[in-house]
Amino acid sequence: MAQPTFSTHLGMVDILPDEVGKWQTIERIVREEAKKFNFEEIRTPIMEQTELIARGVGQLTDIVSKEMFAFQRGDDHYVLRPECTAPVARAFVEHHLEQRGGTQNLYYIGPMFRAEKPQKGRQRQFHQFGAEIIGADAPAADVDIIALMMAIYERLGITNTTLKINSVGDPESRKNYTDALTDYFRPHLSQLSDISQKRFENNPLRILDSKEPEDQPFIEDAPVITDYLTEETSAHYEQVKELLTDLNISFEEDPHLVRGLDYYTRTAFELISPDLGAQDALGGGGRYDLLIEEVGGSPTPAVGFAAGIERLLIACEELDIELVEEEMLDVYIVTLGAKARRWALRHLPKLRSAGLSASMDYIGRSIKAQMKDADRENARHTIIVGENELNEGKFTLRNMKKSEEDTYTFDEILNRLAADVPEVHNSVT
Ligand code: HAM
Repeated sequence: MAQPTFSTHLGMVDILPDEVGKWQTIERIVREEAKKFNFEEIRTPIMEQTELIARGVGQLTDIVSKEMFAFQRGDDHYVLRPECTAPVARAFVEHHLEQRGGTQNLYYIGPMFRAEKPQKGRQRQFHQFGAEIIGADAPAADVDIIALMMAIYERLGITNTTLKINSVGDPESRKNYTDALTDYFRPHLSQLSDISQKRFENNPLRILDSKEPEDQPFIEDAPVITDYLTEETSAHYEQVKELLTDLNISFEEDPHLVRGLDYYTRTAFELISPDLGAQDALGGGGRYDLLIEEVGGSPTPAVGFAAGIERLLIACEELDIELVEEEMLDVYIVTLGAKARRWALRHLPKLRSAGLSASMDYIGRSIKAQMKDADRENARHTIIVGENELNEGKFTLRNMKKSEEDTYTFDEILNRLAADVPEVHNSVT
């Protein structure tokens, strides 16, 4: 085969026709579950102002400092969105969505972009589904958002997961904790990795997120934030845990869970899968009570999650979860001659209007080649049309699966096939 002249960029992949069915199943299930939980879809542009993402996600995060696909046109600074929470917060403020009344329960599905080093489960263009509840600070909202995330995985049959939760505190708890962490790490500073030494200056909390081996022993013994929570935040966290228990959602507390985005306050969580390898987070999220204000709105509490679709597909593969049943074509019209092809083109719409999938040969191949094509397309039936059939008004209808055939008028064929219009085939229901 010839070498292609062009290819996709590193870490960006085509989703080819043989793969698309799986994506459609996942998207359908996300939409159905979101609807059950009373969430509405929101779609925002894939490009945002760089300043929004820098402010929203945090100037010092890896995402903003190292992984942005950003460019300038005239005076405008664009960035391909690395995540969708800041864009949804922007849309909420820009369009005064609070005026719709109640909490805004919103979900999205779409591509995100981060210039990370590609590896299994980590791409530069990847896809997330996610959901946000904007306008509620009660623990019930944290728990409903986690329940939605879990419902989607359960529906797909992915149940061997671990939900990790933590409270990353409100600003006052965080200040106390940061002071404690600074005191703790200072004497060990020279033994920490370069990256952690830098984080020590800017944001010591992020040291806990380090994957560098030399940092691990120090992280293990570090003070935990839950010892520094204010009474109110501690009570909020306790209630989240109680309500999760009420719903039989099991969780593990991980006092070192900090997450890689700066907007989190109070509840933070991650869903981990043993089937993913190094990139083991299926999804994650938490509360971000200060973000709406940070992007120009009035103080509005909010909580949400997002999950990677590529990682979900890896988990499904590891667990042998079939997302799509074999695709079948209901009818393939086999033609002999130009007149028959013209007849077929005229009759395809009638089959399709009756709810059947139907196709034909466009280019006048031999009957044998067309029958082979019908097989390749996994056709249930063929209709065979030649000069004689056109003269008599009767056509051969062949059941390809049973290798049986008989002759009928077109109307008879239509009635027979339409009576048996197959359901949409998906093994996950
Ligand atoms: P995140 O933890 O950065 O959170 O991303 C959520 C999920 O997206 C990850 O758990 C992972 O499954 C997937 N993901 C992230 N980066 C990549 C990548 N490079 N390749 C493949 N998959 C990836 C957020 O994005 C927050 N906006 C979540 C949130 C919503 N918090 C509150 N509301």
